[in-house]
Amino acid sequence: MDVQTLGNEWELLGADDPMWRVASVPGKRGSWTPEEFFANGREQLDAILTHVSPPPGEALDFGCGVGRLTQALGAKFDKVTGIDVSESMLKEAKRLNSKPNVSFVLNKSDGLPCESGRFSFVLTHITLQHMPPKLALGYLREFVRVLKPGGILVFQVPTKWVWRNAGFRGSIEHIVPKRLLLAYHHLRYRGVGFSWVWGIPEPKVREALTGLEILSEERIGPFKGWLSVTFYTRKPAS
Ligand SMILES: C[S@@+](CC[C@H](N)C(=O)[O-])C[C@H]1O[C@@H](n2cnc3c(N)ncnc32)[C@H](O)[C@@H]1O
Repeated sequence: MDVQTLGNEWELLGADDPMWRVASVPGKRGSWTPEEFFANGREQLDAILTHVSPPPGEALDFGCGVGRLTQALGAKFDKVTGIDVSESMLKEAKRLNSKPNVSFVLNKSDGLPCESGRFSFVLTHITLQHMPPKLALGYLREFVRVLKPGGILVFQVPTKWVWRNAGFRGSIEHIVPKRLLLAYHHLRYRGVGFSWVWGIPEPKVREALTGLEILSEERIGPFKGWLSVTFYTRKPAS
C-alpha cells in the first residue's frame, strides 16, 4: 500500500467529518465543537509534556489532521509545522487555526520536506498506526534526521495484536488482505474513506531507534485488538 493510496482514503475521510475522523471518540460523531476538540488537544499535549522537556525552538506535528495537537504546540514553541497527507484535513486545519506561528504542509511522499536538524520537538500521535510498517519505519528515520541534537521525539505505535480483545469485526479485518477490504468497503460505502491499523513488533521499532536515547515508554490498551506503546526519546546532544 503506497502513500498515494493511503492519501486518497484520508482525502475522503477529511471530506466527511474531519474532527471525528481524527478523534473518533464514541458519541462525538458529527458533534465535536472546535472548542472541545482543541481543548482535548491541549489536555493531551500537557499530559505528553509531563514525560519530557523539549528544548525551545521549532516543533513538528506529523499526521496533524485538523491541527488538534498542532495548535496546542503553537502555545509552547516558537514555530510549529503540521504535516499531513490529506488536503481536506489541512483545509479544515487552516480554517480553524487561531495561531499565527502555526503552518500546515501537504506531503504525499515517503520522506519529509524539511531540512536536517531543524526541530526541537517531533510529535506523531495515532498516525504511524495507519500505514504499512515499511512506510512508518521510513518516517521514523526521517524524524531522527530532522531532529536537532538534544531534540525530543515522541511517537505512538501499535506493537502487539491481542486476539481476545479484537472482537469479531476486528478479527475479520485483521485476517482479510487489506486490498480486498478496501475494495469491499468502497463497494458497500461509496465515497466514504477507509483507514486501517497496522502494527510494528516492538523489537523492530527499537532497532529503528538506534542512535536515540529512550527516556520512557507508556503502554496503552489493548484497544480494538492492538497494544500500543508511546516512546519518549531524545537525540543525544552530540
Ligand atoms: C487519526 S488522524 C490523527 C490526527 C492527529 N495526529 C491528532 O491526533 O489529532 C491520522 C492523520 O494522519 C494522516 N496521515 C496518514 N498517513 C499519513 C502520511 N503518510 N503522511 C502524513 N500524514 C498522514 C491522516 O491524513 C490523518 O489526518
